[in-house]
Amino acid sequence: MNIEVTKRKRSRIKKVDFNNLEFGVDFSDHMFSVRYGEGKWGAPKIEPYGTIKIEPSLCSLHYGQVVFEGLKAFRTVTGKINLFRPDKYHERFNRSNERLCIPFIPYELFINGIKELVLLDQAWIPEKKGCSLYIRPFIFATDNFLGVRVSYTYNFTIITSPVGAYYKEGLNPVRLITSGEYVRAAKGGLGAVKTPANYAASLLPGEEAKKKGFTQVLWLDAAENRYIEEVGTMNIAFIIDGKLVTPPLEGSILPGVTRDSVISLANHWGIPVEERQISIEEVFAKAKDGSLQEVFGTGTAAVISPVGWIQHAGEMITIHNGEIGPLSQKFYDEITGMHYGEKPDLFGWCLTL
Ligand code: COI
Repeated sequence: MNIEVTKRKRSRIKKVDFNNLEFGVDFSDHMFSVRYGEGKWGAPKIEPYGTIKIEPSLCSLHYGQVVFEGLKAFRTVTGKINLFRPDKYHERFNRSNERLCIPFIPYELFINGIKELVLLDQAWIPEKKGCSLYIRPFIFATDNFLGVRVSYTYNFTIITSPVGAYYKEGLNPVRLITSGEYVRAAKGGLGAVKTPANYAASLLPGEEAKKKGFTQVLWLDAAENRYIEEVGTMNIAFIIDGKLVTPPLEGSILPGVTRDSVISLANHWGIPVEERQISIEEVFAKAKDGSLQEVFGTGTAAVISPVGWIQHAGEMITIHNGEIGPLSQKFYDEITGMHYGEKPDLFGWCLTL
């Protein structure tokens, strides 16, 4: 595949403080893009990161025909570059695209775009443990049209961003609160799709949660407001009586890649895994009888994020004394160990560049 490359004359990298990276505020020097129209992909290019020219009638601004992904590149301890499970992200990208009537993105286009971009901007991959180059591929409809219909044209773009921990808490436990008023997604809707609408729906409840001193909302199901779904920026898992319990993929939660990695590791370690409905009442009951040992979120941005407190209907539980639990730490160590090439890549998840 031939990618036309136009390099930036002078890098902006010196402006970035790699010792204090936040999530998603700095962007590397270049971006990849390719257009789709008349039923085929155009010529891919890499050019300096910068503005995209659009018309105000761009249909995706009005009706949200947009899908994105998020994956990471790591600088390994031996100086190589690891992409973590890119095939899995590609698969999910296309499942989301299918739901939003967006064309299939061939693996070659996805992976070669990422590889060339990451290699060109490899100076932007942080070396510090806990930091990485976050890769954000996204596709948006580009017809200029105000009727509601599927667009004929698209722009598939990839940008990258050197990042630190997603939450200001880092690996310290976060605080979650359920919402009695709002829902994230109903079955048959867009909950399993990585599309901006889900994130837009979470903003107001998220702001209200923050005002009350919580990190994020713990979403319950739309039908009964009982069964635990996810956290919006991550999936959720519970350690109950030594078993890993996590809500099943039934269409309203995002099929997380880190969720999948945790399940594979648990199976490998002989930890029983239950992908099943779990109600908030059960979680509170298990906290009270002492069998709820740990709770943690799993996500690409968040990796493993221990949960120390959950509030529901005015009542709060504290999990593992508000401290990181041993299994949360073990999953974190194992997964990040693979990221940085410190631990064996047990399942062949890393694509080393
Ligand atoms: C991710 O984990 O990659 C996410 O997409 C979560 C958030 C940054 C939107």
